[in-house]
Amino acid sequence: MAQSDVLEHRPDDESDNACIQEEAPRTIHFDVFTLFPPMLSGALSESILARAQKKGILHVTLHNIRDYATDRHHTCDGYPYGGGGGMVMRPEPVVRAVETVLSRPQGWRLPDGGDRSELPAWNADESPLLPRSTPTILLTPQGRRFDQGVAAELSMHGRLALVCGRYEGVDERIRTQLITDELSIGDFVLSGGEFAALAIIDAVTRMLPGVLGHESGAMYDSFSDGLSGLLEGPQYTRPTAFREEAVPEVLVSGHHANVEQWRREQSLLRTLQRRPELLVQATEAGHLTKEDRQFLSSRGWEAPIDS
Ligand code: ADE
Repeated sequence: MAQSDVLEHRPDDESDNACIQEEAPRTIHFDVFTLFPPMLSGALSESILARAQKKGILHVTLHNIRDYATDRHHTCDGYPYGGGGGMVMRPEPVVRAVETVLSRPQGWRLPDGGDRSELPAWNADESPLLPRSTPTILLTPQGRRFDQGVAAELSMHGRLALVCGRYEGVDERIRTQLITDELSIGDFVLSGGEFAALAIIDAVTRMLPGVLGHESGAMYDSFSDGLSGLLEGPQYTRPTAFREEAVPEVLVSGHHANVEQWRREQSLLRTLQRRPELLVQATEAGHLTKEDRQFLSSRGWEAPIDS
């Protein structure tokens, strides 16, 4: 690791943002810290994520936090001070795991089986130098809300660390001493951060050039720039009629411009029906054309006052 790439890890150092690269790199590496690696390995070995790894665009290294526990019994949780129900994730195994891995080159991991004789020395009292360009993200319902914009932001990094919380919470010192960002995938509580980590890896990976089989990639996914942040409209494939419901005539007309206009209108309509607040955001961002706004008002939409 080049010396210029390392700096003492300071979770609240805003200058970290200066390290976001301007252009998406061709590859991305996730280090995922979890007590349950098999929860992720199955999903990572299927479909688009498997293909992205085979193409060398996506790299994921799973680290079992338990391998880094500091006591004989590999304890990773403890009772909450002050009482109350549930268990809390202890700081030492998590901090040790992340510091050990992030101070080593991408792809480094303990040998299979977590042979403790291979565990590098670790100083519990002193934080090592860590690459400041690697966000260390805690998955928690208390985090900022993950969305397509955050996915685009993360896709600009070459390496990311995802820490999956478990039990009823994590010791606060994990946050204060290690974590640089916290993300939530929605206002509901999962039993741990593993499914959230998978959701994030998937959403970020499909944005990388070369991952999706077609040229436009994820540009026309719902919420993406290519769709002005709106929902995608309905899609059809064979057969042209199914239980007497036919594919809209325009889609089989071969008239490219009409197809494009229909798709735009359907996207506007679907967004109006399901997520009207996205139309307000798109208006404020200046993403709606005069034709878009005319079409919407013909369907009963009232534009926000200042638009
Ligand atoms: N862990 C538990 N619930 C979560 C959520 N909603 N998002 C991210 N991580 C979580």
